Amino acid sequence: MDRVLAIESSCDDCAAAVLTMDGTVLSNVIYTQIEEHAPFGGVVPEVAARSHLEKISVVVSQALDEAAGSGHPRQCGDSSEFKITKVAVTTHPGLVGALLVGAMFAKGFAQAQGCEIIGINHLEGHLMAGSNLDAFPSSPYIALIVSGGHTALYKIGGDGRDPLHHELLGDTRDDAAGEAFDKVAKMLGLGYPGGKVVDELAQIGDATRFKFPRALRGKETLDFSFSGLKTSVRYLIRDLEKEHGCIDAQTRNDICAGMREAVADILIRKSVQACKREGIRFLVLGGGVAANSLLRDRASKLAADEGIEAFVPPRKYCTDNAVMIGLAGIARFKRGESSDLFALGVSSRA
Ligand code: KG4
Ligand code: ZN
Repeated sequence: MDRVLAIESSCDDCAAAVLTMDGTVLSNVIYTQIEEHAPFGGVVPEVAARSHLEKISVVVSQALDEAAGSGHPRQCGDSSEFKITKVAVTTHPGLVGALLVGAMFAKGFAQAQGCEIIGINHLEGHLMAGSNLDAFPSSPYIALIVSGGHTALYKIGGDGRDPLHHELLGDTRDDAAGEAFDKVAKMLGLGYPGGKVVDELAQIGDATRFKFPRALRGKETLDFSFSGLKTSVRYLIRDLEKEHGCIDAQTRNDICAGMREAVADILIRKSVQACKREGIRFLVLGGGVAANSLLRDRASKLAADEGIEAFVPPRKYCTDNAVMIGLAGIARFKRGESSDLFALGVSSRA
């Protein structure tokens, strides 16, 4: 039975997974470099590349071992030996040095084992993160991909022939949503990356105390802009510090709550606007920010409020992982696609 090894190394997570061609996950290993980048307050490309180089073989070996020990072949009545026949690897967009480590490892593995290989767009990975689940809609649907580097709305499969065909409907004009969370976290001294901790503190904050701007709200465009929100938080912190000397814990939590409310509100509004404009009632969310509690909650209410069925992947598959790369690879392998082993390269651009 075909088994797919998936590798993701586009940024600060070194990840490998093994899946069967029907999308069953046999292993999912992630080594996160967060602690290595934390002293710098953000991802340092050289540190990322070197760390991937140190960890990639350990991470892949662990993914292979866990998959081999998963008992899956026997459960399925499949007596064939455990063998990887296909490799899916992130080739773009991302940090070139980091991508190169994963791609070169994948090429070496594929060459040695005689596997088919396919290069995957990281954003398509985020899009396909829950495609092995029954609730995942068939195309056409609208996709909102919200991560540390991207915030974009797509129409997927809108041409009626190709379920992976994507049309960009809206993009961020400045910061990505995840970047906005990270920058606000930094201003509040909450470390890096900040999305998760801002989300947690927002849960115990009052979202009505501070109102932050929702750029491009009410405008026809499906683009986003988060730099005004970031600046508004910066000025508020400056003014509060001037007035009180410091920011107390409750005020910090209220800022997190107000900021999260503004981001979730505009993301949901623009997604609904896209669905209505395109006459499509299915929405798929993906990317690290799709792990956000408020965004997930608002998405779950769209069916009752707007007649839009929203699909959000399980949290662990929203932030970077290799399972999503494997699922995107499976979708493409099933269409008969693969990459040329020797020509396969990487790119920083989408
Ligand atoms: O998709 P991802 O893991 O990496 C990129 O491709 O960028 O996304 C990482 C981003 C970071 O900016 C992080 O702060 C944000 O996702 N993030 C969150 C949450 N968990 C991660 N943002 C808001 N709420 C969360 N719970
Ligand atoms: Zn990502």
